[in-house]
Amino acid sequence: MAAFPLEPIEKASIAELRSLQLERMKAQLKHAYDNVPQYRRKFDQAGVKPEDLKELQDLVRFPFTSKKDLRDNYPFGMFAVPMDKIVRIHASSGTTGKPAVVGYTKNDIATWSHLMARSIRAAGARPGDKVHVSYGYGLFTGGLGAHYGAETLGLAVIPFGGGQTERQVQLIADFKPEIIMVTPSYMLAIADEFERQGLDPKKSSLRLGIFGAEPWTDSMRKEIEARVSLQAIDIYGLSEIMGPGVAQECVETKDGLTVWEDYFYPEVINPETGEVLPEGEKGELVLTSLAKEALPMVRYRTRDLTRLLPGTARTMRRMEKITGRSDDMLIIRGVNVFPTQVEEIILKQPVLAPHYVLEVSREQQMDRLDVIVELKPEAHALGRIEREAAAQKLQHDIKSYIGVSTHIRIADIGAVERSIGKAKRVIDKRPKD
Ligand code: DLL
Repeated sequence: MAAFPLEPIEKASIAELRSLQLERMKAQLKHAYDNVPQYRRKFDQAGVKPEDLKELQDLVRFPFTSKKDLRDNYPFGMFAVPMDKIVRIHASSGTTGKPAVVGYTKNDIATWSHLMARSIRAAGARPGDKVHVSYGYGLFTGGLGAHYGAETLGLAVIPFGGGQTERQVQLIADFKPEIIMVTPSYMLAIADEFERQGLDPKKSSLRLGIFGAEPWTDSMRKEIEARVSLQAIDIYGLSEIMGPGVAQECVETKDGLTVWEDYFYPEVINPETGEVLPEGEKGELVLTSLAKEALPMVRYRTRDLTRLLPGTARTMRRMEKITGRSDDMLIIRGVNVFPTQVEEIILKQPVLAPHYVLEVSREQQMDRLDVIVELKPEAHALGRIEREAAAQKLQHDIKSYIGVSTHIRIADIGAVERSIGKAKRVIDKRPKD
C-alpha cells in the first residue's frame, strides 16, 4: 500500500511558515488578552498590547506563563471560552499541589487529532497498521491523544491503556499490532513480561514504538530497539500546550523532534534570566500556542531542557531529545545530576538492567546519592564478588563521567518498582526544610 502523503505545510518554505506563524500569533495573543483576565492583567502590567506584536521577534516583550498561572486560576480560570464550548477536560498530575487543568473545544480536539495523526505518520506508520495504545486513558493526555490520532490517520486502534501487563502481552501476541504507543519505561516492563511468558519480544509483530511522556536517552533507544526489534521513535508533548504531538521525531532521520511549528512557536531561554537564547544553545523550552481556542498559551515555560536546531526531514525546526527537566536536576554536593546521565552509564554496563531508581538522603548535613539498579535476568546467578565488582565499576564510571560520588545497590530482578506509565526515577528522602 502507498505511504501516507505529507501535508503541504510540512514542505512549505521557511518564509511561508513564518508568515503563517505571524498571522496566527497575532490572533492568538488577541484571543488570550480579550478573553482571559489573567493574560489581560499580566499584559497590562508588562505594558504590552496584542497589537504591539508586529513581527515574531516582538514576542519577547510579552510575559511568560507558568504552571503557577494555571494553579492560581484552578480549575477553569484560564479558559478563554465559556463552558458550553468545552468538550473535553484533562489534567496533569503534578507531584505537589493542585493539578493543572486543561480544556478543549471541538476545534481543539480536531487540531490535536490532526497533529497526532501527523506525528504517528512521521514516526513511520503505514496504511493498514494496527496501533496498540498502552499510554494511560483518563485525565492523562497520553491514551486519548494517541487514540484520536491513530483513528484520524485511519489506523485500527487497540485501546488497551496502562497496566495488566500480562494481558497486554497476550493481546499483542494475538492481535499482532505493528505499532505500540507507550512510555519507554513501560515498554521495558512489557518486554520483560514477554520473556517471562517464554515469548521472544524480538519475534513480536511490533515494527514501530512511539515513545514519550518521560525523558529517555539514546542508549535506552538502542537497548529497546535491540530487545524488541523495532524502530523506537520519540514523541513529545505536555498537557498545558495540548498533550502528545507537540513535537515528533521523523523515522527517516531520527535526529531529534520536529516541532509542529504551524501550531506552536518555540523559544529556548536561559532559565535563570529569562533571556532568549540563539538557536543551538541549550536552555528551557518555552512554547506559545498559535491556534488554540479553549486554552491559549503565551510563552509557556515548560521546564524542559533542550536546544532548537534547524529542520532536516521537514522545514520546521527540531528540538534535541529532552534529557531532563529543570525540576529533575539533583544537586549533590555541588554537582548537578540528571537521572538520564546515570541511565546512559547504567546502559553501558554489561550485567546491569535499565531498571533503576536514584535515592537521595541526607547524612551528617551532606547529601547522599544511592543508585539502586537491577541485574540483567541473564546475570541473576552472579555471586557476591561479581556483584560487588559490577557496583564498583558503575560507581567509578559515574564518578568519572558525572563527577558525583554515589553508593550503588545492586538489586535482584523485580526489586525496582516497574512503572506502568511515567517512571519515577528519584526518591527524595531528604528532610523538607
Ligand atoms: O506526558 C504528554 C505525552 C503523552 C507526551 C504521551 C508524549 C507521549 P504531561 O503529563 O503533561 O503530558 O507531561 C508533560 O512530560 O513537560 C516533559 O517533562 C515530559 N515529556 C513528555 N514527552 C517527553 C519526551 C504528557 N518525549 C511532561 N521526552 C513534559 C522527555 C517528555 N520528556
